[in-house]
Amino acid sequence: MKVFSGSRRDFLKFTGRGAALFLAASCASPLEQLAKTSPTRLLELSPSIEDDLKLAPGFSSKVLISWGDKINKDNDTFGFNNDYIAYIPLEGLKDEGLMWVNHEYVHPLFVSGHIIDDSYTRKTKDQATEEMKAVGGSIIHIKKQNDQWVVKTDSPYNRRLDAFTPIPFSQGLEVYGSKTAIGTLANCAGGVTPWNTYLTCEENYQNFFGEAVYEKNDNRIFQNAKWQMGWDIHYSHPPEHYGWVVEIEPKTGVAKKLVSLGRFSHEGACTIRARDGRVVVYMGDDANDECFYKFISDSTDSLDSGTLYVANLESGKWIPLDMSNPILKKKFKNQTELLIRTREAAHLVGATKLDRPEDCEIDPITGHIYLNCTNNVPAGRPYGSIHKFIEKNNDYTSLEFESSIFLFGGEKSKISCPDNLAFDKKGNLWVTNDISEDEIGQGAYKPFGNNALFYIPMSGQYQGVAFRVAQAPNDAELTGPFFSDDGRTLFLSVQHPGAKTKDLKNLTSHWPNGGNEIPRPSVVAIKIPDFL
Ligand code: FEO
Ligand code: CA
Ligand code: CA
Repeated sequence: MKVFSGSRRDFLKFTGRGAALFLAASCASPLEQLAKTSPTRLLELSPSIEDDLKLAPGFSSKVLISWGDKINKDNDTFGFNNDYIAYIPLEGLKDEGLMWVNHEYVHPLFVSGHIIDDSYTRKTKDQATEEMKAVGGSIIHIKKQNDQWVVKTDSPYNRRLDAFTPIPFSQGLEVYGSKTAIGTLANCAGGVTPWNTYLTCEENYQNFFGEAVYEKNDNRIFQNAKWQMGWDIHYSHPPEHYGWVVEIEPKTGVAKKLVSLGRFSHEGACTIRARDGRVVVYMGDDANDECFYKFISDSTDSLDSGTLYVANLESGKWIPLDMSNPILKKKFKNQTELLIRTREAAHLVGATKLDRPEDCEIDPITGHIYLNCTNNVPAGRPYGSIHKFIEKNNDYTSLEFESSIFLFGGEKSKISCPDNLAFDKKGNLWVTNDISEDEIGQGAYKPFGNNALFYIPMSGQYQGVAFRVAQAPNDAELTGPFFSDDGRTLFLSVQHPGAKTKDLKNLTSHWPNGGNEIPRPSVVAIKIPDFL
């Protein structure tokens, strides 16, 4: 365990730019007082391989909900592999709101009893159905009771969306023969709109119902699902119905797939209102050599229509993906086809290929945009990086930007494979990483231990320095960091503990219940220490 012991001066710097402004605008005595009573120490975890959610001193956590927990009177249950979290307070109520949680994919052995080494063709329809009901997302009503966050299981708002929920495409558009898709799946990260709806992002959709690819003469060919989940043996859905950003109303669960935001391995959707009132959404496409996008809405209260752009980092330009470009006009029949085949359009206009662009977030103090790129192993870059983008004149509708690397992954920065990001109310950055479970503690990843959560002060003496403040149990990744509205609780997903388990008699994790219990992906509520 490494120890950082700070002075009062460090404390002031640690509290960030917001505190600096406060200091300038007030007399020093309240801060003097605060500094005397606050422990200005941050003890950092050392990397290790341990089957526990480890926390740095000063932090504490409690499991809020786990896979399989009943969420309502209809006996709906919390899905598997929880990922992105969004908490929206209920108007007029203190410490009470509706939380959306993504359920990205399943571990077949835990969810349906299907043995992974067994041929997927032997998966029964019941097993496929069980697995398909465990993905998508949950809406849960939560509140703070006796200083602890709990789920209100009797709330009428609690519901599930899964791989069977019919979801229409926006604007009545028809996608591959239908105006409605069956289900949402591969739900990775997401976002919240300025009008308080959730955005959930369909990422590795190709692993479930395959992919449609196009030959040189534009013949459509079906490519089998990579993971061979065996769902497509029992249910037939076109790949084009997945790979979208889905917008959901928190109180009703009414959803639509937003065609205008394009179709690719959508990691997240970071929204911000521009000066002129329009809404801008930044989005990464998580695959090797794929791109970074932004969408600018036409109106101030809807993402149904607008323009999708892709980034060229060399020229510092956002390139529109629409039929005004003669190359795209020649290639695609219409805008809907272009959006279904967004990746091809991006490559045709010379977009910059990045190393698995994942989550992005906007610094609330500077307005700069941060994008995690996890890694590009085939290209010899195993550790990833965090990019920073500055829009011209800090205008989110600008079509010009500057970019740089904020942090290189590796032993020096202590972070390998950055995946999710969150800024706290003081403008400091929190980052989770995702070394694949098969690589944790192996080869190039040996020094990094289990996956973790890092705190990065964005000002002061320790500006840009990563502190390892939480560590995941075995095989897991920490995902979906999201702060409560008072900023004192960090909701966090512990995803895929025990993912390497191949046999129920040899579990690789027992988190969170310990003993001989099977692992259960869970959302935890982490209390942030007063000194941060
Ligand atoms: Fe589902 Fe890119 O992480
Ligand atoms: Ca992710
Ligand atoms: Ca991930």
